[in-house]
Amino acid sequence: MNLGRLNHIGVATPSISDAIAFWRDVMGATKIHAPFDLPAQGVKVCFVDTPSGPQIELIEPLGADSPIHGFLAKNPAGGQHHLCFEVPDIHTARDEFIAMGKKVLGEPRIGAHGTLIFFVHPKDMGGMLTEIMETPKGH
Ligand code: CO
Repeated sequence: MNLGRLNHIGVATPSISDAIAFWRDVMGATKIHAPFDLPAQGVKVCFVDTPSGPQIELIEPLGADSPIHGFLAKNPAGGQHHLCFEVPDIHTARDEFIAMGKKVLGEPRIGAHGTLIFFVHPKDMGGMLTEIMETPKGH
């Protein structure tokens, strides 16, 4: 694994609009991006910038089959959902995780930043659902 930058921390929420108000009014976030739907992942997403650090990715369920429904059933107020680390090459990273016996969830697919991502099961990652994301070109 070629560990890159911590890109974002995924936070599930039952309401992105309530979560935006929290990050703006309580946490003092000044750069909150426009929310958008990611139908292929079954989520609505909103990125909140933190000063010179990883973003917060707010995630709300989108559609009846959203994978976030299960998380919110266990955590009705929402909460930390995943960590996302960048790698230079997504397919190399995927092959390495598989070679180490880690449970990779699905094929690499386009994520919220428009680059390829995959998830690794928390049972193989110290209890953390982990998103691996190819570093956007030009970064
Ligand atoms: Co994410």
